[in-house]
Amino acid sequence: MDAGGAGIDELRAQALAALAEADGAEARADWRAHWLGRGDGRLTLRLRALGDAPREERAALGKELNELKALLEREFGAREEDARTRAVAALSGEAAPDVTLPGRPWPAGRLHPVTQTLNDCVAVFAEMGFRTFEGPEVEWAAYNFDAVRIPEDHPARDMWDTIWIDTLIKGERRMLLRTHTSPNQIRAMERSEPPVRVIVPGKCYRQEATDATHEWMLTQLEGLAVDEGVRMSDLKGTLYAFARRLFGEDREIIFHHSYFPFVEPGVEMAIDCFLCRADGSACRTCHGTGWIEVLGAGMVHPEIIENAGYDSARHTGFAFGVGIERVAMLRWGIEDIRHFYQNDLRFLRQF
Ligand code: PHE
Repeated sequence: MDAGGAGIDELRAQALAALAEADGAEARADWRAHWLGRGDGRLTLRLRALGDAPREERAALGKELNELKALLEREFGAREEDARTRAVAALSGEAAPDVTLPGRPWPAGRLHPVTQTLNDCVAVFAEMGFRTFEGPEVEWAAYNFDAVRIPEDHPARDMWDTIWIDTLIKGERRMLLRTHTSPNQIRAMERSEPPVRVIVPGKCYRQEATDATHEWMLTQLEGLAVDEGVRMSDLKGTLYAFARRLFGEDREIIFHHSYFPFVEPGVEMAIDCFLCRADGSACRTCHGTGWIEVLGAGMVHPEIIENAGYDSARHTGFAFGVGIERVAMLRWGIEDIRHFYQNDLRFLRQF
């Protein structure tokens, strides 16, 4: 018997009986406050009053009280746990979820292979000092065609089968989905004074019967550098660095003459076929030629420089346009461009 209250056994019996009767979360919380509350819980008060007990009993009494406190805390915890389990079970009867199972992790997302490739290309040119510039996907025919030297009835318009916007302006169709990013050569020059060094990433659209190498939507990266004294060798050096960064340090490049109305001279750049190494076999990528065409480029036509309000006697420039899907196909050996936009996760998850 300790002074000023019930014996330990009695205390224990009372507390456990009260806990057994405490029904519901609120009653349990009250019980806890009554017995174990920090300020005036019954056990807390008894522990605090230990100092008043006769010296020779103090140690043994303290030990018993502490053991009782630990017991009550344990019992309380067990009741709480019990209540939680029953609550969960009640949610769905027999098929209660097993809350001890580890959670399901969210699947990790990833960037689309075309986005990854575009980002890598942009990074290479950004390092070389090209700024990123963007233009509209719904474009004026005046920019998409006329400003880049493709007037109406010019046979070169047939190079880009166009998806037109039906809206008539003064009785004419004047808007379209841009067929290439080249109109942004003009837009970029209009917005700043030379020197200009920009890349323009973006989606382009063509009225196209799709096949393994043609899609009606494609991604291009346009490049434009205009300054005093820009020469063909600058174009070659820039694209050479690009090809090696993307396709391997031992890449060789070759320029074939080509025609685009907005450049003079115009070229197609090819890289040596890193798949068959020109061994004469029936390589599907280079068709046995040993060279893979990757982009169109050339020296900006003086008329384009003038159209943008620059002085073509002082300023020269180069431009290029890369098809990003094509780069991605070469990079990963993808044989059909249509895979990119069919949203088949089995394909997309590979990159
Ligand atoms: N705009 C051209 C195309 O879509 C590519 C190109 C860009 C060629 C710049 C030369 C210079 O095919």
